[in-house]
Amino acid sequence: MRSDTQPTGTHPDGPIDIVIFGGAGDLAFRKLIPALFSAHQHDKLDADTRIIGVGRQDWGRDGYLAFINEKAKPFIEKALAEAPAADALWQSFLDRLSFASVDVTNPAAYENLAAISQPNTQRVFYLATAPSLFTQICANLTAVNLVDERTRVVLEKPLGHDLASARAINDEVAQYFRESQIYRIDHYLGKETVQNLMVLRFGNAILEPIWRGPNIRSVQITVAETVGVGSRAGFYDQTGALRDMVQNHLLQLLCIVAMEPPISLDPNDVRDEKLKVLRSLRPMTPADIKRDTVRGQYQAGSISGQSVPGYMSEENVPKGSRTETFVSLKANINNARWANVPFYLRTGKRMQERRSEIIIEFDDMPFSIFSGAANSKPNRLVITLQPEESIQLQMMAKEPGSGMNMRQVNLNLDLQSAFSERRAEAYERLLIDVIKGRLTHFMRRDELEAAWVWVEPILTEWAQSGEAPRPYNAGTWGPAASSALMARSNLTWYEES
Ligand code: BG6
Repeated sequence: MRSDTQPTGTHPDGPIDIVIFGGAGDLAFRKLIPALFSAHQHDKLDADTRIIGVGRQDWGRDGYLAFINEKAKPFIEKALAEAPAADALWQSFLDRLSFASVDVTNPAAYENLAAISQPNTQRVFYLATAPSLFTQICANLTAVNLVDERTRVVLEKPLGHDLASARAINDEVAQYFRESQIYRIDHYLGKETVQNLMVLRFGNAILEPIWRGPNIRSVQITVAETVGVGSRAGFYDQTGALRDMVQNHLLQLLCIVAMEPPISLDPNDVRDEKLKVLRSLRPMTPADIKRDTVRGQYQAGSISGQSVPGYMSEENVPKGSRTETFVSLKANINNARWANVPFYLRTGKRMQERRSEIIIEFDDMPFSIFSGAANSKPNRLVITLQPEESIQLQMMAKEPGSGMNMRQVNLNLDLQSAFSERRAEAYERLLIDVIKGRLTHFMRRDELEAAWVWVEPILTEWAQSGEAPRPYNAGTWGPAASSALMARSNLTWYEES
């Protein structure tokens, strides 16, 4: 039977109970259930693997299935539309699902979960709840004997709101799980192009000798979103773009661009190298922060012809909020490879386009023999993560015709047509890693804390300055000060060049 109609395979990983705390939450129905469905569809789960949603709702299994049908299925509709025997496929996925009604603060309620958990089965607990609940959940799971040596726990971000709270969470979880059982997820590490960046860097001999200053003049990392805060203001207004995106996703991307070749792909070898990068980030002084960081907040504007409200008018945003929805900043890495190469990081909501990209800008030719050198542009490696994955090297070529005029052309690493294989979404790939016990693409405790060490002074300085974030119109690339930040080093953001 075809694997994408009725997957029934047995797997070397064996059956697993995948237990999702926050089973009725946003992340579960938008990302986790669709990812697990895809894993099911492509026969990546053992026939006896079960998925247990946990929530405080007073639901039985039928109630949860109704919820999944209503909320999660729309995110799976496209895959189902393309699948043969879609109804049977969906039904076979639902057969894996059950629900445990648990008020996570009530130890006795965990018996509900213990009662439906398969005996002697490996368990994965995915904690997609507020981090303030992590300790109680771990303690209560241990008390009802659901934790053993084989158990794995996945911690969703945000892992703390500053260094002290991140340390506290790590300390608390460490009372119940060894570090090798803890999977701190950053879904950017599951994106295909991000993983490909490691192969690009460490699998291609031509790149390594030039992958350093002064051959590289600057690095830009942009994660621009067109969405606004949506219904998440309760969380987001306490968090802001620096904590939500820079402390984790953007710094992880920076690590992969900047790290030294690890001695192997062993999780600790890779994470040792990323940690070194984080520890080499030059600490920012208050003067650096004033000069080299820009925080913004979106105002009403329009995106793709649609009017959208400003942050202050979004549901549940407190009046006078000073939360930033945009950050750009210049970071420096104090090591031999990257001394004097600025790394510009930028992220924002309600920007002109949804685009995540890394731009490696190489230094100019020291001297040009060509007339029309004004057309000359620096070589750039443009690694696009979203909306479409691509890797392009921008080169100069001769314009056809008489004369020796130059024009920029792209050497295109056409990944889409080079590989016919299915490209799994980040969450699916990372969940499979958890099932297989592969920690390489998850953050180690010391990495997480090192990221906070660097970010925290920025938060402190912003809070002390009393300045409000700079307004920017929705549908733009952020406040003008963000362009000025680049201009001070005679650089421009990629879309302005
Ligand atoms: C999440 C942030 O971690 O990443 C969200 O909390 C953000 O605010 C999201 O929208 C972006 O992820 P992606 O994969 O859509 O770029």
